[in-house]
Amino acid sequence: MIKDKVVIITGASSGIGEATARRLAREGVKVVLGARRTDKLKQLAAEITKEGGHAVYQALDVTNQSENDAIVKLALDTFGNLDVIFLNAGIMPNSPLSALKTDEWHQMVDVNIKGVLNGVAAVLPVFTQQKSGHVIATSSVAGLKAYPNGAVYGGTKWFVRDFMEVLRMESAQEGTNIRTAIIYPAAINTELLKTISQHQTRESMQGIYDTYGISPDRIADIIAFAIGQPGDTTINEFTVGPSNQPW
Ligand SMILES: NC(=O)c1ccc[n+]([C@@H]2O[C@H](COP(=O)([O-])OP(=O)(O)OC[C@H]3O[C@@H](n4cnc5c(N)ncnc54)[C@H](OP(=O)(O)O)[C@@H]3O)[C@@H](O)[C@H]2O)c1
Repeated sequence: MIKDKVVIITGASSGIGEATARRLAREGVKVVLGARRTDKLKQLAAEITKEGGHAVYQALDVTNQSENDAIVKLALDTFGNLDVIFLNAGIMPNSPLSALKTDEWHQMVDVNIKGVLNGVAAVLPVFTQQKSGHVIATSSVAGLKAYPNGAVYGGTKWFVRDFMEVLRMESAQEGTNIRTAIIYPAAINTELLKTISQHQTRESMQGIYDTYGISPDRIADIIAFAIGQPGDTTINEFTVGPSNQPW
């Protein structure tokens, strides 16, 4: 039963985050939307509200701890409680290491790793105190296997796997009832490839997505399923991708 749950979604302005917001709101979830492009969030929140749902939004750069704290406060102030945070914001400026795009390496660490740390730091006091909560994070199939041009991106997504598993274990040990779920998407048609500045890498990945990519609605369905499990049940890992994608 997910109706009336309060869910923060980071990276809600496009792709998987946007699809998840729409999907959850249709089921009566109260969604709290965060990303940097507030024009997109404003429009999304308006559309959800028009269809009878509940949505608020706030500018969020996940690399900034105080903005993560502020969106948790927005959820509590608006809806009175918080059930789930979906740590989904991410970038994938892939390139060969020899291209030495060191600024992009650091950006991936900041958004994909530190963004997750900041989000967890923001919700953990709330979830610990209420002895319930659900942390869901978007890793990637790149967090399960290595591939050329994805050394740093893959590394950030491997981090998510390790971090989330330890969060799950410690929450169980400490009796805080915090559930976790990690999603490993393969080729999902979103705006993600726009973050790739290296022409050849972008072209080759675009070819893969054009051939195999599926809708972000598929991931949204999985998020709704994970949230809907009874409170004593954690469904921890989902690998989701096109049936015909061979790698
Ligand atoms: N699409 C795939 O095939 C695929 C596969 C595996 C994993 N993933 C993962 O899925 C997640 C969602 O990506 P997507 O595919 O839906 O791509 P997307 O359409 O590009 O969405 C990425 C989202 O992250 C947000 N974002 C980026 N930097 C941010 C920052 N510093 N602070 C806050 N929000 C930020 C973007 O919003 P703003 O630009 O408005 O801030 C956007 O809403 C990412 O973690 C990605 O690594 C995707």
